[in-house]
Amino acid sequence: MSAHSFTRRLTQADLAKLYQAGEKVSMFTCYDASFARLLDGAGVDTLLIGDSLGNVIQGHDTTLPVTVTDIAYHTAAVKRGSEHAFILADMPFGSYQESPEQAFRNAATLMAAGAQMVKLEGGAEMAATVEFLTHRGIPVCGHLGLTPQSVHALGGYKVQGKGEAAAQRLKDDALLLQKAGATMLVLEAIPAALAAEVTASLNIITIGIGAGKDCSGQVLVLHDAFDIPPGKKAKFVRNFMEGASSLHDAALRAVAAIKDGSYPAPEHTYAG
Ligand code: KIV
Repeated sequence: MSAHSFTRRLTQADLAKLYQAGEKVSMFTCYDASFARLLDGAGVDTLLIGDSLGNVIQGHDTTLPVTVTDIAYHTAAVKRGSEHAFILADMPFGSYQESPEQAFRNAATLMAAGAQMVKLEGGAEMAATVEFLTHRGIPVCGHLGLTPQSVHALGGYKVQGKGEAAAQRLKDDALLLQKAGATMLVLEAIPAALAAEVTASLNIITIGIGAGKDCSGQVLVLHDAFDIPPGKKAKFVRNFMEGASSLHDAALRAVAAIKDGSYPAPEHTYAG
């Protein structure tokens, strides 16, 4: 079972069924209708309108300048271009940290633009906001580990969750987000063993990016996976254009590698 098996758009319940059946969930970031059509045609389960659009589309150094209006615009385009994939939209920096009410107002804008779930960064400090949203009909995906909106506080784009105290905090945060009602959790740039432990401790979907093979699914940043622009990328990135005959072929290979567990391989993984 994958997005290809559906004649309609996937729902949160469909993703839960994939997870319960032990099938890896595939996710790509996506920002426009043409790539949405291409990825949808390759059977990608979930399209994330990531605030990485600040980097790869707008040319900024960080995700911080991205606005709710930007994400809503790109979400509507991705929705128009796709028929089957589940649509997840990022809540940008400054759009949810102030209060649960502020988060609700901005999440509602993204849901109206076509999102089926919103993603926000942070752990314990976000639990009340996650509960507020999920109790009001807005599905939420958490995001722990390397949280790019905190790049300045973290002192750069560095692997997180190293050492006993940091690992314990991340495990506690994951459980708190699940308890608050989050039904999906992105784990970014953490040791593979920690991601495996977190995944085993939860009954919601974990989506890894630089978090090893034992997450319940993987997210690929579109421009990384298709090597745009060509050049050196983070350790966890695999160039799916290598050996592919077209973008469609590369997307098919990426979905297959996520589903059969061959991506990420040990060389894409961080140790503790
Ligand atoms: O914005 C984004 O692309 C993301 C992924 C790194 C998960 O949040």
